[in-house]
Amino acid sequence: MTQLTIIVPTRNEVDNVTTLFSRVNAAFADIQAEILVVDDSDDSTPFLVAEQAQISALPVRLLHRPRDERHGGLGSAVVAGARHARGEWVVVMDADLQHPPEVVAHLAQVAARHSADIVVGTRYAGNGSTGDGLDGARRTAGSSTATRLARALFPRRLATITDPMSGLFAFRRTAVQLDRLDPIGFKLLLEILVRHPGSTVAEVSYEMAARHAGDSKASVKEAMTYLRHLTRLRRHRLAGQLTQAPKTKRERVQQLGRMVAFGLVGLSGVAVNTAALWAAYSAAGLNHLLGAAIATQASTLWNFALIELLVYRGKGNGTWTSRAVRFWAMNNLLLLLRLPVLQVLVLTGIGVLVSNGITLVVLFLLRFLLSDRVIYGTRTGEPARDPVHLLVDHGPHAEPVVSGKRRSSYLKYRYDIAGTVTIGSQIMLPELEFFRAQWVADDSVDIAVRVGDVGNRRPRRRAAMTEFADPATLRYEEHLGRFGANFRVQLGDQINIVVGPLLARSPHVVYTNIVEALLRFVLISRGRMLLHSACVTLGGVGVMLSALTDTGKTATILRLLRDHGGRFLSDDMTVVDAQGNAVCFPKPLTISSHTLRAVNATDLTSKEWRRLQWQSRLHSKGGRSLALTLAKFNVPIMGINAITQMLVPPPKYTVDRLVPCKLGSTTTVEELFIIERGAPAIADLTFEDTVERMITNTDDAYGFPPFRYLAPAITVGGLGYAELRAKERQILQGFLANIRTRSVASDTFGWADEIPKLIRPAAVPVPVPAAVREQDTFPNWRAATRLAPSGGTA
Ligand code: GDD
Ligand code: MN
Repeated sequence: MTQLTIIVPTRNEVDNVTTLFSRVNAAFADIQAEILVVDDSDDSTPFLVAEQAQISALPVRLLHRPRDERHGGLGSAVVAGARHARGEWVVVMDADLQHPPEVVAHLAQVAARHSADIVVGTRYAGNGSTGDGLDGARRTAGSSTATRLARALFPRRLATITDPMSGLFAFRRTAVQLDRLDPIGFKLLLEILVRHPGSTVAEVSYEMAARHAGDSKASVKEAMTYLRHLTRLRRHRLAGQLTQAPKTKRERVQQLGRMVAFGLVGLSGVAVNTAALWAAYSAAGLNHLLGAAIATQASTLWNFALIELLVYRGKGNGTWTSRAVRFWAMNNLLLLLRLPVLQVLVLTGIGVLVSNGITLVVLFLLRFLLSDRVIYGTRTGEPARDPVHLLVDHGPHAEPVVSGKRRSSYLKYRYDIAGTVTIGSQIMLPELEFFRAQWVADDSVDIAVRVGDVGNRRPRRRAAMTEFADPATLRYEEHLGRFGANFRVQLGDQINIVVGPLLARSPHVVYTNIVEALLRFVLISRGRMLLHSACVTLGGVGVMLSALTDTGKTATILRLLRDHGGRFLSDDMTVVDAQGNAVCFPKPLTISSHTLRAVNATDLTSKEWRRLQWQSRLHSKGGRSLALTLAKFNVPIMGINAITQMLVPPPKYTVDRLVPCKLGSTTTVEELFIIERGAPAIADLTFEDTVERMITNTDDAYGFPPFRYLAPAITVGGLGYAELRAKERQILQGFLANIRTRSVASDTFGWADEIPKLIRPAAVPVPVPAAVREQDTFPNWRAATRLAPSGGTA
């Protein structure tokens, strides 16, 4: 299947066609693509295109629109092209080589790699620029005014997009509903963005080139068309917002409540307005229309303050200043409606103050609906876009690994993960304590974690994830600026992580959200997988458990160990290879008081028990899903996470503190149980089903933002994200090949009673060489390494 359709709209581009085709063919030599030219020309452009199609390496199609089908111009041409596109992705570029084909190819590759729906070529972020693209100061000013206008009218939908006017962009064909679009003029991207509010968007910076030949079709007429397009989009959106009635009974009741509160505030506002009008008209003797205008300013101020504080309590669409501006604009627009009515009423002989009051009361419902549904946007009904600005920056990246003169780069803590990956860190990583290996040389670790300054000193309006190509670096910045929870990951033979000072004080966040996620990929490149699962040996048999979060996996593991002896390998993540072997990963366990009670753990002090009440609440599924919900909003999620964990550290205890047990270093897994809640049942799972479940379950463990924004940009050992994922799946398939998998459902948390009965008794002891047999000396990676040589450790 074709991966990509390159749509090139053309209108009278004779002098560009030949160069365009040769450069596009060169740039897309390694990409499976087709070219689709949508032509509205009156010159010989289509004939030249047909000629080029004969010699083009990429397949070419030409859609020539006769004169009477060109309504909508450039925008409708692209939509027409998209309807014929065969690619999974569509990339749109100009024919005049202002969008350098090499840049377009890069953008297409980013699109294929990332999970975004829309990828925008931007001239206004990172190293992007308009270059020689916009000739003349007038055009430059025009373009930036147009951009600002659009962003002002759609502050939320365009919040993470710096160049909504771009003519260079790509979209996943299934993510854009072409029937929702009815573009006029040049700004199709804007319309796509506005009409697909839930789509995920990434940007790629580029420098615009000068037109190769011919003239721009941008004109004063296009500018007028743009304004028409913009007002039409805004009008449609407004209508959409106003008609978004509440759906459930509860929401209707809530709306009624807000309406009553709004009405009461409004009544007090009428009093303020009338008093102000009296002062201006009766006392100061001003004209009654002027008086009404002045009175409106006073009551607007009054109403806004009360509505903001009492009715919506600071919650709503955008910042309070933007709401104030919108509220003010609404009341003054309504004032323009009210003045002629006021004049008519006054002429019929009704007093000025009473007439004014009537116009205010009559518009109550409209004012309420506009405030409730547009300004405060209590119901949007549609998913909002991710709050993080995602940018792939093409230029060089200059930040040094460790900045700040007074900082040392020495890695005080060193860890050796199962003889496969080494990590060095300036902050202690409690999760890896078991793997402490101070003999690992400071300068030869695979992953280094340092504390340093990342990104800009100034605070910013929203979080940003930026990907640089050279050297391959990922940078995450948050609202609090450099002192917040920023971090940077430089990829290469050695992975260099730099975390900001706030993060440095919260090692759990650093470990779970950054280090472990990267460790996963390094392990893959070395033929191992970090599988989301628990592992023990019972009577010499390797047993693995898997479950959704908060099912009862940890309690089951602890009970198995307490009641049946056996050895502990892991509770959360297990290192596995394609031969069915598991290597221990004994991180401290995150426990709840519930779990502890299930095993009658006795060693905890009363202080620890008391703290556990708080800790369990915050660090359970509930806390996690709260954080995930928060992450949908424009908040510094890493910072919040870090501070939360500093105040209430997660309840982590090493396994042998909770139940007496021994650790095992490696085992060959024979049984896998997926434990579930529900009516008691035991069922065999097919191989395919097991693979899918384990993949989903593992993904789930890494889905936490901001890492999910960063993951697609990762390359380790020459493998890209997609390749690493494919390799991980292979390792998993190999691992599971000889393992029996069953699902065990229980509604009484009774898994620990069932599982031992289900395990094949190790009746015929498998002859194992002494070195491989469980032993008490640690670390004993050699056994595992011998069973499965891990590729490329050197
Ligand atoms: N099919 C078709 N129909 N193509 C058209 C039409 C039309 O009515 N009008 C223009 N085009 C083609 C041109 O042939 C060219 O390939 C491309 O669309 C862009 O037109 P230009 O005339 O070069 O526009 P521009 O350079 O001023 O504007 C570019 O930059 C803007 C941002 O500053 C475009 O990419 C705009 O979309 C973009 O907003
Ligand atoms: Mn152009």
